[in-house]
Amino acid sequence: MQRIVITGATGGLGVALASLLDSQQNELVLVARDEIALGALNESLGARHQTFVADLASSIDLDRLIEQLSKQKIDVLINNAGLNEFGEFADLSPVMIEQMFQVNVIAPMKLTRALLPNLLRDKATVLNIGSVFGYIGFPFYATYSATKFALRGFTEALYREYKDQGLNVLFVAPRAIATSMNDARTESMNKELGNMADSPEAVASQIVQALQQGLTRKVIGFPEKLFARINGLLPNIVDKALLKQVAAMRRFAKK
Ligand SMILES: NC(=O)c1ccc[n+]([C@@H]2O[C@H](COP(=O)([O-])OP(=O)(O)OC[C@H]3O[C@@H](n4cnc5c(N)ncnc54)[C@H](OP(=O)(O)O)[C@@H]3O)[C@@H](O)[C@H]2O)c1
Repeated sequence: MQRIVITGATGGLGVALASLLDSQQNELVLVARDEIALGALNESLGARHQTFVADLASSIDLDRLIEQLSKQKIDVLINNAGLNEFGEFADLSPVMIEQMFQVNVIAPMKLTRALLPNLLRDKATVLNIGSVFGYIGFPFYATYSATKFALRGFTEALYREYKDQGLNVLFVAPRAIATSMNDARTESMNKELGNMADSPEAVASQIVQALQQGLTRKVIGFPEKLFARINGLLPNIVDKALLKQVAAMRRFAKK
């Protein structure tokens, strides 16, 4: 039995992770913005978990969450909450750019930083939910890609800095997941371009496996895993493949 904090617990992947980790008899701290959805999730799991309502884009809420969590033993911190908006970069509001960085990067970093003494004491694991877009800069996801690249850089550096002190750090990079993060335009685009989307349950199962195996990095899905590697070594090849698809993507990206 482990004590596991899950942010974004009421989202598609969050619910799948919470359900799987609950079925393995873990004690959960479920964090989300929507109090009603959070209560309903906890009820569905037998009302045996702790819940905490917090908007991770609010520094007041983040501080309250940190204060609460810093009194507790934590075995795993899952930074799962995430925000995305598919579309042309020119159409993305500056407010949304800031929000995406707040939720996808700043909140996980601040949470990890504040809880670090406890995480080190408890030989805990920090699990950051990234994306293949944290390896491949994807057109029409410029800001989201930037946040996931940032989260990956943070995760990698953190692993290297604290491994010798017993902190486990894991970056998981799923490809598309069939959750409400992807709107109808994205689903239609993925269908036309032949991009696969996994079920949240299948992704949760792979994530929990990676956690139990003590992995440091995991990219989910083939050929995305291969493209992530090629992009690191020979980005020109991936440029060519994506540039061929941009016109089709632009049709869907228009609102
Ligand atoms: N779906 C995909 O295709 C995909 C692919 C790769 C990686 N991922 C990553 O997987 C993770 C989970 O995404 P998902 O697919 O489950 O998406 P989702 O269904 O939209 O869930 C996202 C979760 O993050 C929460 N969140 C958003 N903004 C927040 C804020 N300001 N404060 C607190 N919580 C906030 C949402 O809360 P509300 O319900 O209150 O909005 C929701 O619980 C994310 O990190 C995402 O980037 C997703």
